[in-house]
This record gives sequence, structure tokens and C-alpha cells, in this order.
Amino acid sequence: MVRYGIIGIGNMGSAHAKALYEGKIDSATLTAVSDTNIDRRTWAQNEFGAGTAVFEDYESLLTSGLVDAVIIATPHYSHPDIAKRAFKENLHVLIEKPAGVDTKSVKEMNRVAMESGKAFGIMFNQRTDALFGALKYYVELGLLGEIKRFNWIINNWYRTQAYYESSSWRASWNGEGGGVLLNQCPHNLDIWQWIMGMPTKVMAFCHEGQFHDVYVEDDATIYAEYPNKATATFITSTGEYPGTNRLEISGTMGKAVAENGVLKLFLLDKDERDICYNSTKSMPKEKVTQITVNIQEQVDGHILIIRNFTEHIENGKELIAPGLDGIKSLSISNAAYLSAWTGSFVDIPFDETRFNELLEAKRQEEKEKGNAKNSVDIPSEAAGEYSDRWQVRW
Ligand SMILES: NC(=O)c1ccc[n+]([C@@H]2O[C@H](COP(=O)([O-])OP(=O)(O)OC[C@H]3O[C@@H](n4cnc5c(N)ncnc54)[C@H](O)[C@@H]3O)[C@@H](O)[C@H]2O)c1
Repeated sequence: MVRYGIIGIGNMGSAHAKALYEGKIDSATLTAVSDTNIDRRTWAQNEFGAGTAVFEDYESLLTSGLVDAVIIATPHYSHPDIAKRAFKENLHVLIEKPAGVDTKSVKEMNRVAMESGKAFGIMFNQRTDALFGALKYYVELGLLGEIKRFNWIINNWYRTQAYYESSSWRASWNGEGGGVLLNQCPHNLDIWQWIMGMPTKVMAFCHEGQFHDVYVEDDATIYAEYPNKATATFITSTGEYPGTNRLEISGTMGKAVAENGVLKLFLLDKDERDICYNSTKSMPKEKVTQITVNIQEQVDGHILIIRNFTEHIENGKELIAPGLDGIKSLSISNAAYLSAWTGSFVDIPFDETRFNELLEAKRQEEKEKGNAKNSVDIPSEAAGEYSDRWQVRW
């Protein structure tokens, strides 16, 4: 039996705590929670009763001897520091996405994780979505041939001003460290690199406060390149309604289109590169076979990730989302910020010191404008009720 502690029981952490408390994960039990906010601690006392220890300070939870593993669901900036402390206490760690705010501190967390030898996972719950699993399988199988283009327009992350004001740390460089790319899109950036591998060059346009009264970007467009000449575009915002979620991958043998939870394949009989150079016609009409892939209904991915993490601890089952992978999607969003801030292409790997200097400049600029929010010690006003808005939103 794995005894879990949850650090940060706001929106997401309270859902993880409830899933464990309600016995939705075999061989796992909730023994402790921690939150700096008194309201959240009172909620936990009422919800879970005496069997679950409630701490204000996460250090006390880590050293209590009551837990074997922790799930860290605090604001992003704090993930690496809390994870490192937990590894030092010989605990297994499952962190929420994003892994952190900057890759430098995430690299340090990854180093400590590897040294500890403890289990390390990240809550990339969308990896459990059968649609993305199928897409990854087909691309790796070579069904689409050599990939030419990856194109994802995902602007169905609509949020209101009330959302941005729902927790004091949100929507600022000091409190959150980024906007839509860092908060909503780590899942999508992870699925992108999970299927396609890492791009080596990006150019990005990030518009801060485009649709809301916020300091960070709520609208972003990333253009990226791969060494084999493939390109990618990624377009997102939290300010368009109704939104779109359309992912299209095209290769030399056809294309795959995922939209509204439906995955369609459009497959050629011959490689387009052969057609291009060997056909005598200027605009040939080739046979295209269209297949609609039967996708299993999505179950709660968060629960699947905690189950998988528990099985990994208990019997060494392979992790769906290893913690070390968190740096990949963060590298894409960090590189995108660096590109937007400097107005130039950015290679991956990029200059992390330069990124941290420019992030610090954003934080200072924001403070000068009168916003001194930071992610530590500021109580959350979040309602703390699990809602299905965390599900994959096709
Ligand atoms: N995987 C997903 O689908 C998903 C969905 C939502 C949020 N998240 C992630 O979960 C994290 C939390 O987001 P949220 O929406 O639950 O935020 P939230 O503001 O609702 O909750 C954060 C909680 O952490 C507490 N906290 C802050 N500092 C703390 C500390 N040092 N020790 C203990 N508790 C502390 C706050 O008081 C608050 O209750 C973020 O990193 C977010 O990106 C992931």
C-alpha cells in the first residue's frame, strides 16, 4: 500500500486527494495533506476526518513519516523546490504540470530526482487519451510516411477575467511565471513533443493581456522547425469563443486530422515525393483512403496517471509520464518566450541564463507597475471543487 500526501489542495490537489480518499486507486491511500491556506485545511479536515493528517507547512508533511509518496499541486514556481525536498526525504514524487517555470531549476530537480533513485512522475494526464496514443502509434509506425508538418490550433482554453482573479498567483510573471503557454498548454506542448520529438528552432509571437486584464500572454503563436525540414505551428489563446481544437499532421504518405474527439486518417497509396518527381501530370488526382479511427471513450486521465504511478512504485510498471519528461514541453514554452521577448529565432537547447535574466526583467517590470504578487505564501481563494474543466476539451 502506497501512503500518499498531497501538497497544495486547491482545485487540482483536492481532486487528487478525493480520488485517493474515495479508494479510486488500488494499493494507495491518502494519509496527509498540506496547504498554506487555512480555508483549504479546514475543508480537508471536514472532508477526510481524523485518518488524514493536515499540515500547514509541507516540510512537516515530508518529515512526518506518514507518507511514502507526495503529489505536488502547488503553483508552478514551487514545484522544483518542493520536489527536491521530498526526494531528500526519500519520498516518491508525482508533480503537477508544468514541471516548473524555468528549465534551469527543473534540470536541478531532475538531477536530484535521479540521484535519489525514487519514483518520479508528472501529471501529463492527456497522454492517457486513446486518441493521442493512436496518433503517436501511427506516426511512429510510419503510416504517414516522413512527417512534413504538425499543425495544432487549440484555442478552446477559453477563460474569463473571473478565472484569472480566482487565485491570487494567476496571470502574472511574479505569481505564475507565464500565461496560456505555461498554464493551459503544457499538456498540448507535451503531446506535440511526445508524438513528434523536440523541434530544434522556434519563433514565437506572444501577446500579453490581449483579451484580458492580465500581465502574461493570453494569445500565442509558435512556429517551429525540425532538422529534417518538417515544420510545426501551434496557435493558442484563452480569449476566443467558441474555440477550436484541430490537430493535423501531414507526411509523405498522407495526413491525420484530430478534431472534436474524432481521429481521421487520409492515406495515399504512393509516397507523395515519388508522385511529385515522377508523375507526368501537373496536378494529379491520387487515390486517398479515408479511415475514421475508433477511439475508446476517455476515462479520467488524472486517476490513470496516479494508478500508473502507484503500480510503478509497487511493481516497477513503466511510467506513462516520467517526471524527467517535464523539461521537454517547458523547453518549448521557455524558448517561445525567449523568442517573443527578443523578436528572433531561438535554437533548442537555448541560453537558459539569458532566459532567466529576461524572466527576472519581466518580474521587475511588473513590480514597477504595482504588481508584487508571488507564488509563495499567498493564500488561494480557489473554490477547491473538482470540475470537469480539467478533462481533455475536444
Ligand atoms: N493536470 C491538470 O490537468 C491540472 C489542472 C489544473 C491545475 N494543474 C496544476 O496544478 C497546480 C495548482 O493549480 P490549481 O489550479 O490547483 O491552483 P490553486 O490555486 O487552486 O491551488 C493551489 C493550492 O496550493 C496551495 N499552496 C501554495 N503554496 C503552498 C505551499 N508552499 N505549501 C502548501 N500549499 C501551498 C494554495 O494555498 C492553493 O490551495 C498548478 O501547477 C497547475 O498548473 C494541473
